[in-house]
Amino acid sequence: RITSSWLGTGRHYLGRAWNKYATVVYYQVNMSSIVVPQGWAPWYAGSETNDVMFAEVGCTGAGSDMGRRVPWEKHLSETEVEKLVDMSFIDDGWLSKQP
Ligand SMILES: *[C@@H]1O[C@H](CO)[C@@H](O)[C@H](O)[C@H]1NC(C)=O
Repeated sequence: RITSSWLGTGRHYLGRAWNKYATVVYYQVNMSSIVVPQGWAPWYAGSETNDVMFAEVGCTGAGSDMGRRVPWEKHLSETEVEKLVDMSFIDDGWLSKQP
């Protein structure tokens, strides 16, 4: 859940692109009303937003309305989402080798 108590005051973007390959996915997050309606900022990616992968999947709350999001927000297929939320996406075996 995103709250204003630990992010400061005012409204916030979900993310801004450092470059055109920036990737952020919010998955099943309860978003409060501090999220700006556009959701995302292109920042250094400028107009090169084709390769930016910003997405939201299954989010709830007052800030989760995707009706006014930037047009370049990605809409992931079920297969893409399954790949991203599967532990194998971040763990190719290194996790179980930790002390
Ligand atoms: C989201 O957060 C609000 C505010 O705390 C709460 O009232 C609501 O029940 C939460 N929704 C879900 C789906 O957790």
